[in-house]
Amino acid sequence: MTEQLVDPFQRAISYLRVSVTDRCDFRCVYCMSENMTFLPKKELLTLEELDRMCSTFIRLGVQKLRITGGEPLVRRDIMTFFRSMGRHLESGALKELTLTTNGSQLERFAGDLASAGVRRVNVSLDTLDDAKFADITRWGRLPQVLRGIDAAQKAGLRVKLNAVALKGFNENELPKITEWCAERDMDLTWIEVMPMGDIGNEDRLDQYWSLKDVRARYEEHYTVSDLAERTGGPARYIRLEETKQKIGFITPLSHNFCESCNRVRITCTGEIYLCLGQEDSADLRAPLRAHPRDDGPLEDAIRGAIALKPKGHDFDYSRQRLDGQMPRHMSHTGG
Ligand code: GTP
Ligand code: 5AD
Ligand code: SF4
Repeated sequence: MTEQLVDPFQRAISYLRVSVTDRCDFRCVYCMSENMTFLPKKELLTLEELDRMCSTFIRLGVQKLRITGGEPLVRRDIMTFFRSMGRHLESGALKELTLTTNGSQLERFAGDLASAGVRRVNVSLDTLDDAKFADITRWGRLPQVLRGIDAAQKAGLRVKLNAVALKGFNENELPKITEWCAERDMDLTWIEVMPMGDIGNEDRLDQYWSLKDVRARYEEHYTVSDLAERTGGPARYIRLEETKQKIGFITPLSHNFCESCNRVRITCTGEIYLCLGQEDSADLRAPLRAHPRDDGPLEDAIRGAIALKPKGHDFDYSRQRLDGQMPRHMSHTGG
């Protein structure tokens, strides 16, 4: 039996998030600057390399694989990779294959994703207003994303909406977004904006809307109860008694959830990042490329990296200062 991956704090690593591209067809203001430089293609793991990388992690005990980006569905021929990962679902080694997407390409790919064995998708959507959507994503168009969500639901995929909570932007849409999700039987999670990467002139301290306030806002409109259940992810949940909805909160700033962290991340260039909010990383592409037919060196490099997993991140906006700022963009590490 292969020995499972366990980090120095006795956390079993069963969840791998893989960014398959740093590119995106949107330019969300909290994520990217308008003029982003993207990596040359030769830096990226090929689809075959991605397959070997993920298959190795699965052999080492990863049971949940989430594909991210940038926007994963803009990577050419990415359906080949999804179809290929389907074999690990069939064998039972992988329990879940899923992705986080901006929804722009879902109309095209929802059916193929479902056929590959994907059961749920997380769609990032911060507003239901056409003009505001165009503002926040700079390049995105809301109707296209809404058609994508419809297509996903028609294909039988369960959809979770991720909304970044932005002060003065979507504060007043909280009831609208919540009810819209309830009508469509979609889950909803709010995310605090994290200090990731240079985004030009925007100021994240101005954008930061604490989820403590979001929760208080819910209490103005609904009867709210806290749920003890945790899914192994960073989200905590509340229930709205009126609609019976479960709403998630991802609060890296106002509440740290690192003690139960079960995940590591692979960037599109094959670096492993041990924490979204720390610099600790290791290059897995070198052992992968140097040994095309032997996964041993890659396995050793993975084990060596897991031994470096830090206890947690240091994001902090307190005292009106921005601490724990990460130089890399979310689209690099994959959210
Ligand atoms: P499920 O629990 O499987 O639904 O996934 P998730 O909510 O972890 O995945 P998703 O990609 O939807 O995550 C939403 C966002 O949560 C990410 O883009 C990150 O912004 C944030 N997030 C997820 N995992 C972590 C983490 O380990 N640390 C921090 N700081 N943020 C995270
Ligand atoms: N802080 C919080 N969430 C972010 N996302 C992108 N950049 C940031 C940030 N700086 C979110 C997207 C998407 C997910 C992949 O990450 O909106 O939901
Ligand atoms: Fe693209 Fe997602 Fe970043 Fe928006 S948040 S620019 S959709 S990667």
